Amino acid sequence: MSFPENFLWGGAVAANQVEGACREGGKGFSVADVATYKPNVDVKDYKAHVGISIDAIKKAIADPDDTYYPKRRGIDFYHHYKEDLALFAEMGFKVFRLSIAWSRIFPTGEEEEPNEEGLAFYEDVFKEMKRLHIEPLVTLSHYEMPLHLALAYNGWTDRRVVDYFVRFAKVCFERFGKYVKYWLNFNEVDSIIRHSFITAGIIPELCGEKGELACCYQALHHQLVAAAKAALLMRELIPGAQMGCMLTKLMTYPRTCAPEDVAATQKKNLENMFYADVQVFGEYPRMILRDLEKRDFEIRMEEGDTSLLKEGTVDFVSFSYYMSMTESVDPNAERTPGNTVLGVKNPYLATSDWGWQVDPVGLRVSLIELYDRYKKPLFVVENGIGAKDTVEADGSVHDPYRIEYFRRHFKEMEKAIDEGVELMGYTSWAPIDLISASTNQMSKRYGFIYVDQDDMGNGTLKRSRKDSFYWYQKVIATNGADMD
Ligand code: BG6
Repeated sequence: MSFPENFLWGGAVAANQVEGACREGGKGFSVADVATYKPNVDVKDYKAHVGISIDAIKKAIADPDDTYYPKRRGIDFYHHYKEDLALFAEMGFKVFRLSIAWSRIFPTGEEEEPNEEGLAFYEDVFKEMKRLHIEPLVTLSHYEMPLHLALAYNGWTDRRVVDYFVRFAKVCFERFGKYVKYWLNFNEVDSIIRHSFITAGIIPELCGEKGELACCYQALHHQLVAAAKAALLMRELIPGAQMGCMLTKLMTYPRTCAPEDVAATQKKNLENMFYADVQVFGEYPRMILRDLEKRDFEIRMEEGDTSLLKEGTVDFVSFSYYMSMTESVDPNAERTPGNTVLGVKNPYLATSDWGWQVDPVGLRVSLIELYDRYKKPLFVVENGIGAKDTVEADGSVHDPYRIEYFRRHFKEMEKAIDEGVELMGYTSWAPIDLISASTNQMSKRYGFIYVDQDDMGNGTLKRSRKDSFYWYQKVIATNGADMD
């Protein structure tokens, strides 16, 4: 068995990493617009790098110089979207995953009425996609909540944010429902524990005595309730549409077969999947609730939340997959960075330029594990390699390492499909170079399309095709039959 006939091949981006134009079209600042350039992120202490304070936010807001706030400029997709979509169409994309910047539609999050200019922008994008026969896959929340909601409400810790989000989702469904069939609620819903400000607008100094982690679990509950409400609303407003959850699949193997390592690994993997468990099964796993209770974390629920979670479950499960790691109870085990995590090194795997362990087989294992657990169609909505590219004198970019990364992952996807996994589609991260989520670097390049811009924002923004562009074009044209 190979890739199904209607397999959705494409690519994925997030508004805050590509759009730029942070002060245009009536947009308000989002949490991404105060993220600073951090080329030397040390994942050993990732929290220290994503740490945020009210002072730092205020300074950033007042700073008119955007040089060190790369997400404010993105790759100027806001003005280049026609050109970019045309390049995606040339590659043969069936689907393109993008997010809607909440702060373009509701600049502070609190407005009663949406910002028409923001709506018109996305409507134009969707119309162009329709013309090019590219199906949109839309993330409602991808690390870009209005900054005002972070400052005034401590982000998602405040229950009122649920209503603001549902209002935003409703406007999106009403306005874009005729273009968009596939929706995702929260990007990497599990990431709240790793970077609470970026994911949920949480400012630790506003968390009080209970501390940041307690805020995270409360905020997470609010997001899960909001996701359930959004799913119900979507069903009412767009017949036939589908809602997916989105998980960072952090594949963890035991470092050794010592039973203690296996037990520690099991705990880690269960913790990683519990967010999707709630969105698929409609309830919190008993063991997670017990664990929170033992750690003295209380999740405050309102009457009706339990049945909401039960009713507003998702139609499919999507996830990002970049790397794997191992777990060990040995405190001296050598550790290595991954996607905003630190894991124990796996001696069998090579690493990317940024130290992430490349593991195509782990994608197959993840697909089989998730399908077996959830019995829902799966969608790989992020997978790719951040690398340093070199532009040759003639302007070409030869990136065999990227082709190799994708080829090996696609082969494993094919094997999982052959084993019976129901896979709807695949969107690479990212089809075009963009600003990195974690380091805010431009030089960490993911695309099949090169964008002429450096870390400081210098460059012409000219787009050009890398070798991998032609390779992916061929893969899509042959529906995965030719990966050479
Ligand atoms: C995912 C995020 O975790 O990883 C993306 O959803 C992000 O927004 C991607 O860009 C790659 O991470 P980074 O830090 O290399 O950009």
